[in-house]
Amino acid sequence: MYADIVLFVFMCLTAGHADHHHQPCHSHNMSGLMNVLSLKGEIRAVGTFTYDSVGQKLRFQSNESHPTNTSIALDLLMFFEEGIFYEIDSKNQSCERKKLQMTSHPLDIPDNAKFVGTVTSGSSSIEGEGLKLNTWGGKLKKMKDGVDGSYSMSVTMGCLPVNTFYFTETTSFLFSTYDVDLEIKDPDLLVVPSFCRGKPLEDTPEGTVNSFLHEFM
Ligand SMILES: *[C@@H]1O[C@H](CO)[C@@H](O)[C@H](O)[C@H]1NC(C)=O
Ligand SMILES: *[C@@H]1O[C@H](CO)[C@@H](O)[C@H](O)[C@H]1NC(C)=O
Ligand SMILES: *[C@@H]1O[C@H](CO)[C@@H](O)[C@H](O)[C@H]1NC(C)=O
Ligand SMILES: *[C@@H]1O[C@H](CO)[C@@H](O)[C@H](O)[C@H]1NC(C)=O
Repeated sequence: MYADIVLFVFMCLTAGHADHHHQPCHSHNMSGLMNVLSLKGEIRAVGTFTYDSVGQKLRFQSNESHPTNTSIALDLLMFFEEGIFYEIDSKNQSCERKKLQMTSHPLDIPDNAKFVGTVTSGSSSIEGEGLKLNTWGGKLKKMKDGVDGSYSMSVTMGCLPVNTFYFTETTSFLFSTYDVDLEIKDPDLLVVPSFCRGKPLEDTPEGTVNSFLHEFM
């Protein structure tokens, strides 16, 4: 009993201690693949992404027919610092420019995120068979239908995002990245296409929240 209490206090102390030493890290410039799963069991999208962590820009392109049938095809160019984004349709060279109501996204840990813990996926004792991850979490205001939500984000020791969950009482989504490279392979992907330039901002209907996450809902 006494030993349990001592252990419990010790764990609280070390957990509290760990907290002070963890500041949310920021990811690198990256290119890679991303898939989005609704936790109702549907693959929402599989696509490629390019991320500029300095300029806070993200391009995501998915294809509904390849490699698996997914429910949505998207081409998004997000400018998180400016708070705007483009929905691009390259086929008919059209695009819509919209305001972001929520700038959180699955590739960057929000500055006010709380450190949850460190775990090793797979094995921590067999070399090459484990992946050590730091998990961060927090709340998101008025995520869906005015209801607040939460997120949980796991990154490698080098701050590469691996998994991000978003959840409310009624929906949850999992964003996973894989085959990530630490560079912007094609900088042109982060430039607004000529046919999108000078587009006026679309009106946001009352109650609508635009964000990277909401594109997949
Ligand atoms: C990330 O990419 C941007 C845009 O290409 C570039 O200005 C910046 O120097 C890059 N940062 C790093 C750390 O490579
Ligand atoms: C989607 O994938 C199909 C099959 O690989 C390909 O023919 C098509 O060009 C792709 N579309 C886009 C927009 O990448
Ligand atoms: C994808 O969907 C199309 C049309 O519904 C279907 O013909 C095709 O067989 C599906 N492909 C796969 C791999 O499920
Ligand atoms: C472009 O195509 C999409 C569907 O593929 C359609 O919703 C949109 O209205 C089209 N835009 C223009 C300007 O034709």
